[in-house]
Amino acid sequence: MAFSSTLTLAPLALVLLLLGSTSAQLSTNFYASSCPQVFSAVKPVVQAAIAKEQRMGASLLRLFFHDCFVQGCDGSILLDDTPTFMGEKTAVPNNNSVRGFDVVDNIKAAVEKVCPGVVSCADILAITSRDSVVILGGPNWDVKLGRRDSTTASFSGANNNIPPPNSSLSNLISKFAAQGLSTKDMVALSGGHTIGQARCLNFRAHIYNDTDIDSSFAKTRQMNCPSTSGSGDNNLAPLDLQTPTCFDNDYYKNLINKKGLLHSDQELFNGGSTDSQVMTYSNNPSTFNSDFVTGMINMGDITPLTGSSGQIRKNCRKVN
Ligand code: HEM
Repeated sequence: MAFSSTLTLAPLALVLLLLGSTSAQLSTNFYASSCPQVFSAVKPVVQAAIAKEQRMGASLLRLFFHDCFVQGCDGSILLDDTPTFMGEKTAVPNNNSVRGFDVVDNIKAAVEKVCPGVVSCADILAITSRDSVVILGGPNWDVKLGRRDSTTASFSGANNNIPPPNSSLSNLISKFAAQGLSTKDMVALSGGHTIGQARCLNFRAHIYNDTDIDSSFAKTRQMNCPSTSGSGDNNLAPLDLQTPTCFDNDYYKNLINKKGLLHSDQELFNGGSTDSQVMTYSNNPSTFNSDFVTGMINMGDITPLTGSSGQIRKNCRKVN
């Protein structure tokens, strides 16, 4: 018994050791001497993009999540497909859904202007998501930096690692656990759905078939999302019906009122083990803010390329 549990725990300990040692190389002052202007170069471009379209803050935050869950936070999501290279952009969770690539190009151009060849696209996504949250009224934090960019991407990783909107609570927990993130991180990071929009095809089944939904809310959402699959698939609805361009804790209040837009959202408050955490966040915005920040830092630590691994891409869309 003791022997077999030692055997099963040994690889886990090794993985934890490796994870710990790679993420330890990220630091908040990584560019202090090589590019002290990086933050002042990024922020105005994010600010201008959000001023032009408020939803963009949400789209930029989501890019970082979808980057980090596929071979770590390495800018892999930014690579364009070519005739000989299949990236992540057309994987199911991303196709016709992730956006903001032009904004990332503009940010990269601004950064290259002040420090050519120094700052990775992966770090740009980390800074940009923090700036987006702050600009929309959420918490601030120091971003750990020092990631390098991948020379590869993973279409299958994007399909398998990013949880789909019909996920059960146990699926959500296991997809986050597979990335080294706790259930607590998962519930706090889901608060990212306090901003942004979703397409009808991703919430149709929830508003027509589920019973854990407020019936008048379901009817309202049905008005712009026809029941027939294939019709109105891309019609949008806000993930937070109250304040979709404001980073606050309304997402959790909605869940308590059975007004989560996605099946996966409502799973966090549906009589299961995460109900109490949702309650806490709905009553304590500052607890939500600080756990969200912890979650973002933990997510940003997922298997970065550091040291001499990977590269600093010149153009975020293609390998050098
Ligand atoms: C817990 C598991 C999660 C699931 C199942 C999930 C699923 C989804 C889905 C289906 C959409 C709508 C996409 C579309 O209809 O085109 C969406 C949007 C979004 N997600 Fe998530 N998500 C999850 C976690 C997260 C996390 C951890 C973050 C960030 C911290 C995040 C941030 C966002 C944002 C900001 C949007 C709106 C994007 C926009 O308006 O462009 N999500 N998510």
